[in-house]
Amino acid sequence: MDIFDIKGKVAIVTGGTGTLGGSISRCLARAGARVVVLGRNQDAVARQVDDLRAAGREAMGVIADVTDMRKLESAREEIIAQWGRIDILVNTAGGNTPGATVSDDSNIFELDVEEFRKNVDLNLNGTVFPSLVFGKAMAETGSGSIINLSSMATYSAISRVPAYSVAKSGVEIFTKWLAMELASKFSEKIRVNCIAPGFFIGNQNRQALLNPDGSYTGRSLKVLAKTPMKRFGRIEELNGTVLYLCSEAASFVTGTVIPVDGGFSSSSGV
Ligand SMILES: NC(=O)c1ccc[n+]([C@@H]2O[C@H](COP(=O)([O-])OP(=O)(O)OC[C@H]3O[C@@H](n4cnc5c(N)ncnc54)[C@H](OP(=O)(O)O)[C@@H]3O)[C@@H](O)[C@H]2O)c1
Repeated sequence: MDIFDIKGKVAIVTGGTGTLGGSISRCLARAGARVVVLGRNQDAVARQVDDLRAAGREAMGVIADVTDMRKLESAREEIIAQWGRIDILVNTAGGNTPGATVSDDSNIFELDVEEFRKNVDLNLNGTVFPSLVFGKAMAETGSGSIINLSSMATYSAISRVPAYSVAKSGVEIFTKWLAMELASKFSEKIRVNCIAPGFFIGNQNRQALLNPDGSYTGRSLKVLAKTPMKRFGRIEELNGTVLYLCSEAASFVTGTVIPVDGGFSSSSGV
């Protein structure tokens, strides 16, 4: 199926050392892309790159914090020096942070506003800044695909995570805004889309969703009750949508938000 072919494309995955980013990196590399694993933890990045290379894939690592424009600009120079271009950017770095959470036995007025600020910085600017820095390289070549990750917390209020919800909602409107800007002022071949994942058990939400004995928490049971498929996503179940969005198969698709959620966002739960 040639329309899904991404062989030889240079694809950056921010947070490529994480649960979903790791799986997306492996999928893109398996499809023949040259994958750049971008992270702030040198050892974790090196491990991920070694694993990809051991599987016979083309990969390089770059170290950068996604909220630091200068580090991102150096990363862009490194990537261009190595592979000459940037075709795909998948912004997966982000997540909820415990300090920015309103627990069930506290309330919004007890929120630590500094933690709120940091979480919005990570989840919103941590997508905006890489999109600006790597999107500029796409503007220069006149083609590229940017894929952002939002969340179910943008559709309706989900308890505990106000900063994360606000920031991920910002990611969705930024997706639409940048899609408009790049297609109308630069090239129709630069597309920007967003995936809204449902609930996947990863490092950052495992404690909230699973008890120490592996059984579901009360929060998990509420999620599953509202999910028509009655299960959590398998980590690799985002990959097909990523592959679609970064390939020619999606050549007329820009500014969209696609839920991959087992039906969570479309169901009232009743
Ligand atoms: N899991 C879910 O159910 C779910 C649902 C909806 C949306 N999402 C979104 O999907 C994305 C990935 O989630 P995940 O579950 O795979 O989380 P994860 O395993 O915690 O991965 C997050 C990745 O982001 C990196 N990161 C964090 N802050 C960074 C920074 N300032 N600069 C560079 N890298 C940074 C982490 O690296 P470090 O090791 O350096 O921290 C890690 O590799 C997140 O944006 C999350 O909000 C996840």
